[in-house]
Amino acid sequence: MYLSMLVILLIFMNIAISGIVRENYIKERRETFDLRLESIAGSLRYYMATGEIDKYRDQINSILTLYGRDSDSDIFLLDRDNIIVGSSNGMSIGNTKDDYIVKRAFLGESEFEINTLDQEIMNIAYPIMSARDVIGVVYVVSSIGDIYDSINYLDKGLVIVSLVGIAIMAIVKFGFTGYVLRPLDSFSEAILRISEGDLDYKIEINTNDEFNDLAETFNSMTHKLKEADSHRKDFIAYVSHELKTPLSTIKLLSETMVHDENMNIDICKEFMEDISSESDRLTNIVNDLLTLMELEITEMKIDFEMANLKAIAEKVHSNMTHLAAEKDIDFRLSVAEELEFKFDPDRIKQTLINIISNAIKYTDRGGTVELKLYSEYDSVVVEISDNGIGIPEESLPHIFDRFYRVDKARARATGGSGLGLSIANQIVSLHGGKIEVESKLGEGTTIKIRLPYVV
Ligand SMILES: Nc1ncnc2c1ncn2[C@@H]1O[C@H](COP(=O)(O)OP(=O)(O)OP(=O)(O)O)[C@@H](O)[C@H]1O
Ligand SMILES: [Mg+2]
Repeated sequence: MYLSMLVILLIFMNIAISGIVRENYIKERRETFDLRLESIAGSLRYYMATGEIDKYRDQINSILTLYGRDSDSDIFLLDRDNIIVGSSNGMSIGNTKDDYIVKRAFLGESEFEINTLDQEIMNIAYPIMSARDVIGVVYVVSSIGDIYDSINYLDKGLVIVSLVGIAIMAIVKFGFTGYVLRPLDSFSEAILRISEGDLDYKIEINTNDEFNDLAETFNSMTHKLKEADSHRKDFIAYVSHELKTPLSTIKLLSETMVHDENMNIDICKEFMEDISSESDRLTNIVNDLLTLMELEITEMKIDFEMANLKAIAEKVHSNMTHLAAEKDIDFRLSVAEELEFKFDPDRIKQTLINIISNAIKYTDRGGTVELKLYSEYDSVVVEISDNGIGIPEESLPHIFDRFYRVDKARARATGGSGLGLSIANQIVSLHGGKIEVESKLGEGTTIKIRLPYVV
């Protein structure tokens, strides 16, 4: 495309250049002749003015011959009746010449024409003035073949230069495109393979340039895609497993009830209670999953507003005291100061509930759970400690993972699905805060939520 534009441009440029040069050559040639003709006219004026041309024919012809030889052209002298009365080569005497330029010359104008039909010729008609009258015309027939030869020579030069230019451009263009396109081919191949689901595909480029860096970035992107994909698969497997367990319990209990016609009413009631608690469990899991999805999808939709964390903590404390009381757990609250700052009150309340319910759930009867609030430098700290069963050290890095539970058998009894802490963690990190855990097996657990103290 660019190359063909370049070719067209060069053709026009060549035509323009040779045109301009030709015009200049001709103009220059004509100016030279005009100077010469002025002096010829001067020399002939006297003879013409006498009106006795026959008498001076020899003198006239020798002037014409001299100038004609000098300028390598044929020069004729025309009288008022357009008749050739003198000639540099002694020919055409007595003939008439009345073409356009002769007419112009008799009007007092020096005129010229170019004739390129047989040979390249320039004709000039120059008036011989006496006072204000034109008393004769000098007519020059001069070959300008030399000018056309030079122009042809120039044209050939221009064509050669253009061809060389085009060839260089073509080599540069195709060479460069080949160089650039080769690595891009690997990329399009990779994109195709990845879109077909082959996340193991890697681009191999050893060019040691930007393409190499790009290929590395690309490969690390596919690696991350692969990780995300495998998380997604794990997650789906977990979710289906978690949902299947209560569902199969419900199915088993209800089928037993249907088939056992003589079932004792107390057992029947117990089965119904189990079915009810399993459906509660299903509802909780689905609700927790929806919360997690919502936090992930509407990541930025945390509604920051000025709120009082002390008031929220007091509310949560009073709401959960009865839950603690069921297990004879002493649930204490200590808040040293008013803590007014910007956070999402609903989400933070949910976080407190999730962590406090863990503390109560994983603490034996008669234990203690404490909720403490205070500020430290530029953060607000919510500390929830219990003297419960504790978390084994090897489990600590995993407790925020979805569906992670330290003791699955025990979790079944307590009804946990392993989503509470991962929701809490998500909410706190969306606030720009973090959660720290300290725990000792058999001694208890302390969880600290640090939130930025933004007012
Ligand atoms: N205070 C605690 N003491 C001991 N273990 C805890 C405590 N808090 C959390 N854990 C352990 O971390 C695991 C993950 O907690 P998380 O709150 O995410 O799940 P869950 O309580 O089992 O279920 P859910 O909260 O979804 O009902 C728990 O199963 C438990 O083993
Ligand atoms: Mg929990």
